[in-house]
Formats: sequence, structure tokens, C-alpha cells
Amino acid sequence: MKSKYYAEPFKIKMVEPIKILSEEVRLKKIEEAHYNLFYLDSEDIYIDLLSDSGTGAMSTEQWAGMMKGDEAYSGSKNYKKLVETAQKIFGYKYIQPVHQGRAAEKVVMPIFLGPGKYAISNMHFDTTRAHVEIAGARAIDCVVSDALDTETYSPFKGNMDTKKLIELIEKYRPENIGLIIMTITNNSAGGQPVSMENLKETSEIAKKYNIPLLIDAARFAENAYFIKTREKGYEDKSIREIVLEMFSYAQIFTMSSKKDAIVNMGGLIGIKDDEELYEEVKLKTIPLEGFVSYGGLAGRDLEALAIGLEEGIDINYLRYRIGQMEYLASRLDEAGIPYQYPVGGHAVFIDAKKLLPHIPYYEFPGHALAVELYKEAGIRTCDIGSYMLGNDPDTGEQLQSPFEFTRLAIPRRVYTQSHLDVVADALIAIKERAETIKGYKILWEPKILRHFTAKLKPIE
Ligand code: F0G
Repeated sequence: MKSKYYAEPFKIKMVEPIKILSEEVRLKKIEEAHYNLFYLDSEDIYIDLLSDSGTGAMSTEQWAGMMKGDEAYSGSKNYKKLVETAQKIFGYKYIQPVHQGRAAEKVVMPIFLGPGKYAISNMHFDTTRAHVEIAGARAIDCVVSDALDTETYSPFKGNMDTKKLIELIEKYRPENIGLIIMTITNNSAGGQPVSMENLKETSEIAKKYNIPLLIDAARFAENAYFIKTREKGYEDKSIREIVLEMFSYAQIFTMSSKKDAIVNMGGLIGIKDDEELYEEVKLKTIPLEGFVSYGGLAGRDLEALAIGLEEGIDINYLRYRIGQMEYLASRLDEAGIPYQYPVGGHAVFIDAKKLLPHIPYYEFPGHALAVELYKEAGIRTCDIGSYMLGNDPDTGEQLQSPFEFTRLAIPRRVYTQSHLDVVADALIAIKERAETIKGYKILWEPKILRHFTAKLKPIE
């Protein structure tokens, strides 16, 4: 029998109880958390969709692998297995583990970027943007305009706008562009995929101007799945073949392995073949992350990561994974709740600008909806919009994000379809009282990455 949505290709062996607090207690908790969902205790959350990062459930194989951790300071067997596995999957000669994605960015960005330089990306994730700026450079986003229209179907809304890319390179001069960064999938645009054609074209432009192309590979497997299911000529290729081709177009990648490699902690740097660059990466990794053969991780973590890389590219797993997003999206379609359409790979991005049109960007509609979901049903999500984007580093003025999303990030192999029904029902209830929802004002904020720690209050 063929079901509409591909069911879990696993059964559940261990469970973690969750509880729902009363509405009265939830209202108190969110006030005590200064209306910042990052300050909530996870125990006080019923369904946690704050992030799909590091929140996945490891498999029996991964847990068994944890027992095989070789905790030698140098040259552990798990390191060897990880390097060999990653070399095979990505086709890159040099693999450096680090403790998470931003650690990879911290090591790599200053090698390519400094004051007066620019990084151009289909869209920088917030920590990527932060590391570009910490290196002294400026981050420019260059996503296709299709991404801005959340209602119209387009198969690859994560793509780089290649015409604009050329204009930007000419404007800022090629010698000042330290990196071109392709984020796959494009998290900030809604977990939207990048096509093979676009990767190839971007790579040709990068080559022409002699600018290195870096892949931000956090969700590489989900991106490969979309290429297989949406791009002509790839229907019959395996995920493995697609991944190899995708990475062949870049010279280097940084990866948060906490997403598609289904581990709770870990990251990677991959270098295609530039030995000199690898030497530089090693030199920086040792003081920042630890010796080359562990890079901020325990031997057991390296083992789990090597296994997770393989599990993350399994076609049956990916069918179920993307099927979960499609199921949740179908419930929202029925209720007329706007989201970035078609649904992305790791999350449903609710279009809060459309759902709460009375809240202007500087009062953070995406954040307001996130607070409301907690109040409604103990669901934790986050803003991907002007609240997350923050202020202009030069003028200190609030930037206006092209999107005001509330992101419902789905952890891997964690929640069932019934949990997704709870989420859909909560959104439907909120939609009914949308016009009563208020915007937010920031009472305190740090200079960068403010959404983690800012304190807010609702505007009366
Ligand atoms: N790049 C992308 C595209 C990401 O989505 C993230 C993290 C990182 C880099 C940084 O990786 O967290 O391992 O240091 N994204 C998480 C999220 C936090 O919720 O989207 P990290």
C-alpha cells in the first residue's frame, strides 16, 4: 500500500516524556523569560521547534558507535573513519572536524576575509554573517527574487541571483570579494534548495573572477533530495551521486553536522585539494578547536558523526523527512495559513508579515507569532526576520529583513505526525485572533547575534 506521506523508516525504542504546562503557567514563564524564547527552560516546552540543529535523535548504530570511541589525544581510529567517510561522500581530499558549524566559520572566514573585503552569499546564516563581520568584512545577500514572493511556486527559491552576483562583483571589484558562499539549503530564505544548475553557474562566475566558492553545507542532503525530486536530469541519480556533483563545484565547505549528519554536536571543514589552504586551516584549528584529529570533539562524537553522515543521505530517511514538512504544510494549506511555499527541507517558515500585517518590521511580527505559539500550546519556534537580522553594523539602525518568518524547525526523527497536528491546530487558533496580537519592543540587546539574549516586552 502506498501512503501519501512516507512513514517513519524506523521504530521507537526509547522515549523521553514531555509535558504541557497550563496556559496560566506558560504566560508567567514567557514573561519571566523577557519574551525571549531562548531564555525558556526546555522542560517548560511541549513541542520544541526552536531549531533542527543538534536536536535530532541518533540511531541504534550511532549509539553503539559511541561505545567505540577511541579517546586518544591524537590519531584516534574514529577520526580515520570520519575522514574516510567524508572523503567518499564529498569527494574532498582534506577533512577537518570541528565542534560545530560556527567553529568552522571562525577558522575559515579570517583566512579569506578582512577589513575592506566582502562575502557574497545566496543568504548568510546569522552566525556566518557574524563571522564575516568579526573578520572585519561585510556580508552581502544575493538570493533570487523568487524567494521574496512566498506565495508563488518556484522549485529552487534558495538560488543565487547570478546576474546580481556579477553586478556586485563588478561594483565592489573582484579583488575585494574574499568569498562567494552558497548556503545549501538556503536556511534564511525558508530552507529552500539551490539547483545544480545554479551551483554550476555560480561556480563558473567564481572561477572567471578568481574568487573561491565555499559551500555552507549544513543541510546538503536535504538539498540533494530536492535536486533529485525537482531538477530535470537528476530523477534517476542517487543522492550520493548528486552530493558528489554538488560539491565538485566548490573549493571548500564549512558544515554544521548538527543538521543533516544527525548528531547532537559536530562540524566539518572540507577542502577539495588545496594543500596550502589545508595547512592554514590546521594551524588555526589547533589553538581554536584542538588537535587536528579531534577538533573540539570526543572520539565517540567523531564515530557518531561518521555514521550519521551515511544515514543522512539514505533516500528512505529523506523521503520521510521531507514528507513531514509536506504533511504540516498541507494542513496549513487547508487553513489558509501563509508560509514560504513550497515548503523547505528542515522547517515550515510561516509568513508572519502576511499573517500579522498590522505589525511593522520594527515591531517584529515573526517574533510576535513565535511568542504566541508558546502561549497557545507550549510550542517553541523562532523569528527569522528583522528581529534576528539586527542592526546595521555601521549605523546602528534597525535593518529591515526581506522576510518576516516564524520558523517551525522540525528536529530529525523526533516528533510524530500527531505532534505536527498539534502545531497546525495551534496556528489555526492563532489565525482566528490574529488582529489582537501585539508587536514587541526591545528593552535590552547585545551588539551582535542579539536574538539569543535580548530582552523584550509587548507593545501595549
Ligand atoms: N550555517 C547554517 C546554514 C546554519 O543553519 C547554521 C546553524 C550554521 C551555519 C551554524 O552552525 O549552529 O553548528 O554553529 N543553524 C542553526 C539553526 C543554529 O537553528 O538554523 P552551528
